Amino acid sequence: MAALLPALTILSLVAVGIDGYRNVTISTLASAVAKGAVCLDGTPPAYAYSPGFGDGIDNWHVYLEGGGWCENTSSCLDRSTNGLGSSPKLISSKNGIQSFGGMLEDNSTFNSDFYNWHVFRIFYCDGSSFTSDVEDVDPVHNLTYRGARIYDAMMDELLRIGMGNAKNALLSGTSAGGLATILHCDKFQALFHNTTRVKCVSDSGFFVYGEHFMGADRREAFFSDVVSTHGLTNTLPTSCTSKFRPTLCLFPENLVQDIKTPLFLMESSFDSYQIGENVFSPSDKSPRWANCTHNLMFCNWTEIKIMKDFRYTFINTLKSTITDSSSRRGYFVHSCYRHGHMAYTHGSTCLIGNKLANKTITQAVGDWYFDRSGFQEMDMLNDLPRTCTTTDDEATFEKNCSDYYMQH
Ligand SMILES: *[C@@H]1O[C@H](CO)[C@@H](O)[C@H](O)[C@H]1NC(C)=O
Ligand SMILES: *[C@@H]1O[C@H](CO)[C@@H](O)[C@H](O)[C@H]1NC(C)=O
Ligand SMILES: *[C@@H]1O[C@H](CO)[C@@H](O)[C@H](O)[C@H]1NC(C)=O
Ligand SMILES: *[C@@H]1O[C@H](CO)[C@@H](O)[C@H](O)[C@H]1NC(C)=O
Ligand SMILES: *[C@@H]1O[C@H](CO)[C@@H](O)[C@H](O)[C@H]1NC(C)=O
Ligand SMILES: *[C@@H]1O[C@H](CO)[C@@H](O)[C@H](O)[C@H]1NC(C)=O
Ligand SMILES: *[C@@H]1O[C@H](CO)[C@@H](O)[C@H](O)[C@H]1NC(C)=O
Ligand SMILES: *[C@@H]1O[C@H](CO)[C@@H](O)[C@H](O)[C@H]1NC(C)=O
Ligand SMILES: *[C@@H]1O[C@H](CO)[C@@H](O)[C@H](O)[C@H]1NC(C)=O
Repeated sequence: MAALLPALTILSLVAVGIDGYRNVTISTLASAVAKGAVCLDGTPPAYAYSPGFGDGIDNWHVYLEGGGWCENTSSCLDRSTNGLGSSPKLISSKNGIQSFGGMLEDNSTFNSDFYNWHVFRIFYCDGSSFTSDVEDVDPVHNLTYRGARIYDAMMDELLRIGMGNAKNALLSGTSAGGLATILHCDKFQALFHNTTRVKCVSDSGFFVYGEHFMGADRREAFFSDVVSTHGLTNTLPTSCTSKFRPTLCLFPENLVQDIKTPLFLMESSFDSYQIGENVFSPSDKSPRWANCTHNLMFCNWTEIKIMKDFRYTFINTLKSTITDSSSRRGYFVHSCYRHGHMAYTHGSTCLIGNKLANKTITQAVGDWYFDRSGFQEMDMLNDLPRTCTTTDDEATFEKNCSDYYMQH
């Protein structure tokens, strides 16, 4: 789970901006250092903030960046040399700028419900989905495990700049940030008055354990390593650790039921990251399988069958986790082969041929957020993974996709 798929790299680690997206300067939070809220390499954590405007001035969207996890000191050490463990490295790799697309963008044509909100994007440099809080710095490797403190320091900053008076607030995040959203959702809600509408949206954060599906031992072993490396035994939600061993409390299927705040899951039942990384261990992964998970055209039927089995496990796990049919829970589960949606217009708004109940992801989330209608939809018609991109080139696809959206 630690390695990133090339496909994921294309879709979420783009160094420069994309035409049409707004570009926001990346800042570091110096005040976090005194609280010990630092990245793996000891540097202050980073964020990119775009203030709200117009009638969005009282609305706050806090977005948690993702990027896998590190499960041992050597993989955490690797991270401390790049943007996933070090803010200076992040800033230099992105030329100091983060582009905001999809549900973070300011164009009302594509993002009609959230375009004028304050958007506060928190970068990910702890490798533990913002849950670690180890006092001592690892003396051998000089690594600091303080993701939970980073989350808290960022919330302090948000309250300082006015979020406490929000009318509407949304915590969201993608991938490891989507898992962090689930883990922090109730704590986020507790920051506000009871008159604030507070909800959470987890994007591609529903990492299944799926104990009867191949690779379960490996998925558990990986999170077990994450728990021990980052000292998470006492930082995970006690509502879960009172029932399950800590390792299982990084799997949303054991967390979601206890969350009191309204929560929406935005997912592919053929999550390309989970299929690519969590089924076979790197040592068992054949070159054939690697090819297939990078490009569905190279898959044979045995491999497609594995993907169908993944989907079956994913859907059943999600359905048994969300038994509440009220608007307190929402989900949009499609069948396009991908991972990550929210921060891209091609992910959330115009993913071609990807409406459910005649709504795009952005419309579904907007309607659910503002209580216009509930939304619990899964694509039950397509039981094969679909390629919903027209090209691997991010900028071209984005243009193609938004043109398509404008024409329909
Ligand atoms: C954002 O920056 C990129 C280059 O990094 C540029 O192509 C794009 O036009 C910029 N977007 C805006 C809205 O200025
Ligand atoms: C350890 O990291 C800190 C930053 O947190 C740095 O100031 C210090 O020089 C490093 N120590 C060693 C021995 O590399
Ligand atoms: C640490 O994790 C990496 C994968 O991220 C793996 O390749 C490596 O073998 C692990 N090292 C140890 C000592 O377990
Ligand atoms: C939104 O995007 C469309 C299509 O790119 C463009 O025509 C329009 O001018 C944009 N609107 C704003 C307010 O930037
Ligand atoms: C909100 O909190 C106030 C006191 O802080 C309480 O009087 C009121 O009943 C609460 N309203 C709701 C809807 O819970
Ligand atoms: C993987 O795909 C490449 C083409 O992209 C092909 O040349 C190679 O033979 C494939 N390898 C396997 C093991 O299928
Ligand atoms: C299909 O893929 C599987 C798993 O990658 C492999 O074991 C099998 O040999 C492949 N079958 C054919 C006919 O290529
Ligand atoms: C689908 O939604 C569009 C607006 O988004 C609407 O114009 C159209 O009538 C809807 N179609 C159906 C079949 O409900
Ligand atoms: C998007 O790309 C596809 C395939 O490359 C092409 O057929 C289609 O015309 C493009 N659509 C637009 C609106 O550019």
